[in-house]
Amino acid sequence: MKLSDRINQIEPSGTVRFTQLIQQMRGQGKDVIDLAVGEPPYDTPRSVIEATQQALAAGKTKYSPVTGLPELKSRLANQFDGYDANNIIISNGSKQCLFAMFQVICNPTDEVIIPRPFWVSFPEQVKLAGGCPVFVDTCNHQLDCEKIKQAITPKTRAILINSPNNPTGAVYPAEDLVRIAEIALEQNLYLISDEAYRLFVYDKLKSASLFDIEDIRHLLIVTRSFSKNFGMTGFRIGYIAAPQEFIRALAGLQSHMTGNVCTFAQYGSLKALDMNHHELEDWRADMASKRDYAYRQAAELFDCQKPQGAFYLFPDVRRHLENGISSAEFAGRLLETAGVAVVPGEAFGMDGHIRISYAVSKDKLASGFDKIREAL
Ligand SMILES: Cc1ncc(COP(=O)(O)O)c(C=O)c1O
Repeated sequence: MKLSDRINQIEPSGTVRFTQLIQQMRGQGKDVIDLAVGEPPYDTPRSVIEATQQALAAGKTKYSPVTGLPELKSRLANQFDGYDANNIIISNGSKQCLFAMFQVICNPTDEVIIPRPFWVSFPEQVKLAGGCPVFVDTCNHQLDCEKIKQAITPKTRAILINSPNNPTGAVYPAEDLVRIAEIALEQNLYLISDEAYRLFVYDKLKSASLFDIEDIRHLLIVTRSFSKNFGMTGFRIGYIAAPQEFIRALAGLQSHMTGNVCTFAQYGSLKALDMNHHELEDWRADMASKRDYAYRQAAELFDCQKPQGAFYLFPDVRRHLENGISSAEFAGRLLETAGVAVVPGEAFGMDGHIRISYAVSKDKLASGFDKIREAL
């Protein structure tokens, strides 16, 4: 069967592949501790489920506006000073937001600068838009702003920033965000800010957003999501906040790609915005204590930075890679011998590392680390 060159050049999502493998192993009756998981362990809030059920019962089951429910867009716009509903588009998770955004900004061979390691879908989505991902290594998981500046060429269209970061959990300090905004402004480049893990920041850090920097707003595209922050990964509700002209371009694309996002799921999302802060604070506190525990365990076994956000550790495992084995083989052996799933660094463009998710119960986390220790 002849497939397009475009589709032949991309790799399927490494994390999704792992999830499927784990499901397959469980189907065969094998016991797997899943530390590869990319979603929080909390149930979707009752109030959200009830609002969704009410929307279904009330017949909110038909097409709705392509860019999203006006009331949901207005509520989301309140997070962005000076923005209104016309600055927001709702999509099927921030994954679709990002995909659509690259389609809108990239001409063939345009370059998008992506700090490495990176979330699995960024480079493939850039390629699917005809663009070229250009990777710039981070330094101890933090941005190297000057290296990013040096990577700019006449073909560069955008710089992509993801903080809190998947896979490292790094949260970039406000001064680095200011520097990156200056660089983007000087060169008239789009700045993309993926804030999918926005509410998961620890150590009393404020979740700084590039949107806080006023001068860059005309070039800034922010993506956020209900998935991780409200325990709603299956609802598939994400959104972009950007200048209105950009939203209009995205709306044209979305009108041909999906039309509206599931109507009743959007009513459920509206309710999530009413969740009281204590409930979210409890989640964050619980995740922070898991981060502390996981970090202590991982630091005894690997070279590990302490992350301040998201729910991942990204330790350097090279001291365990004897006889030239790769981190992918290392992760494969952990799965086979210890029954513990982690994601190899290769999926995120950086071998010699593994991603360990601590978004599981404390018991699972403890037993996962016991098994890894034993296997090592
Ligand atoms: C950095 C990052 N951005 C975006 C997404 C997409 O999330 P969703 O489509 O569920 O909003 C993910 C999911 O894992 C992610 O890790």
